[in-house]
Amino acid sequence: MSLLELDDVSVTYRIASGEVPAVRGVSLSLDSGMALGVAGESGSGKSTLAMALLRLLPRDARVGGRILLDGDDVLAMTWGRLRAVRWAEASIVFQGAQHGLNPVRRIGEQIAEPLLVHDLAKPDAARKRVAELLEQVGLPAWRSRSYPHELSGGQRQRVMIAMALACSPRLIIADEPTTALDVMVQAQVLTLIKELVAEQGISLIMISHDLSVLADVCDRLAVMYAGRVVEHGPSGEVFHEARHPYSRALAAAFPTVGDPLSRMAPKGLGGDPPDPMHLPSGCSFHPRCPVALDECPSLDVELWPAGPGRTAACVHVRSDRALGAADAADSADAADSADAADAADSADAADSAGAVGLVGAEEEAS
Ligand SMILES: Nc1ncnc2c1ncn2[C@@H]1O[C@H](COP(=O)(O)OP(=O)(O)O)[C@@H](O)[C@H]1O
Ligand code: SF4
Ligand SMILES: [Mg+2]
Repeated sequence: MSLLELDDVSVTYRIASGEVPAVRGVSLSLDSGMALGVAGESGSGKSTLAMALLRLLPRDARVGGRILLDGDDVLAMTWGRLRAVRWAEASIVFQGAQHGLNPVRRIGEQIAEPLLVHDLAKPDAARKRVAELLEQVGLPAWRSRSYPHELSGGQRQRVMIAMALACSPRLIIADEPTTALDVMVQAQVLTLIKELVAEQGISLIMISHDLSVLADVCDRLAVMYAGRVVEHGPSGEVFHEARHPYSRALAAAFPTVGDPLSRMAPKGLGGDPPDPMHLPSGCSFHPRCPVALDECPSLDVELWPAGPGRTAACVHVRSDRALGAADAADSADAADSADAADAADSADAADSAGAVGLVGAEEEAS
């Protein structure tokens, strides 16, 4: 059974001017010990989806579909059960979360807090665990006595990771965990996350606008556009041989040099991501799509099979499949005719053989 299963998950924010469909019918699953990357430009619904997984959304958000964590329906959990699940079974590291550390409390106290709150350790054991966690994230144990302002941005993000690991969760959701860091520190923090999840068998959902980072860390990738998954498959294949034109543009994206907060600019794509309140008709990517067809503005897109373990929501994938099916039918026809011809040939041969046999039999009988 999968550790996490999302079935047709949707999230709609209700705001004064109407409804914002931020996530629209996402179905994904994650097996134990596996890492899933969720990619997409700003506004594609990645954080909304991540927060829905642990019911961390504001009250004005309506969530639909089903979210099963280890078979348990997250949307139907009591608050008590949900509190136990957060941190202890699944924890989340937010983008720029290091700014969320309490400035007037020592690092060690903050890391120990989830352990004490969830009654998972007594104060002495919690202190030991804090030292161990700091070591795991590459910080010396004496740092537990430091205040957040005494640490660099990268060190503070390491502290956030230590907090996420504190209760030994089975799933960590990391939402752009390195976006606010400079490139060198980003690489170190990513390597750290990669090693920790691999060593401890933790499942990971990592969210980023940077497909190359995700391809490096994750087993599978889901690419989101306008609240929907538009491509899903093994990360190497999605990154190197994307089937959806949006994933191809993201894979070819480049960062703005010198701006650590820059969004990757998807290569060859004009325009901005759509406003969820005014989504384009048909395939919502059509106004920006370099290979759009006349039918795309009225197309009912869905995730079509795009190879083993892969799906993509593009008409070209559907057409390739239809062509493939037609080819297969043609070859089946050809095979049928060949079989028929073969059969006729063998029948002829059999007849001849029969005739020979008969002659032989007659000869024998006679
Ligand atoms: N609290 C909210 N109220 C209304 N709209 C929101 C809220 N949070 C996010 N949105 C909208 O939902 C869409 C998806 O946002 P988000 O999940 O933050 O995307 P991403 O993480 O991919 O950048 C965006 O259009 C955003 O403006
Ligand atoms: S369905 Fe059409 S508009 Fe959408 S990605 Fe494919 S070609 Fe482009
Ligand atoms: Mg986000």
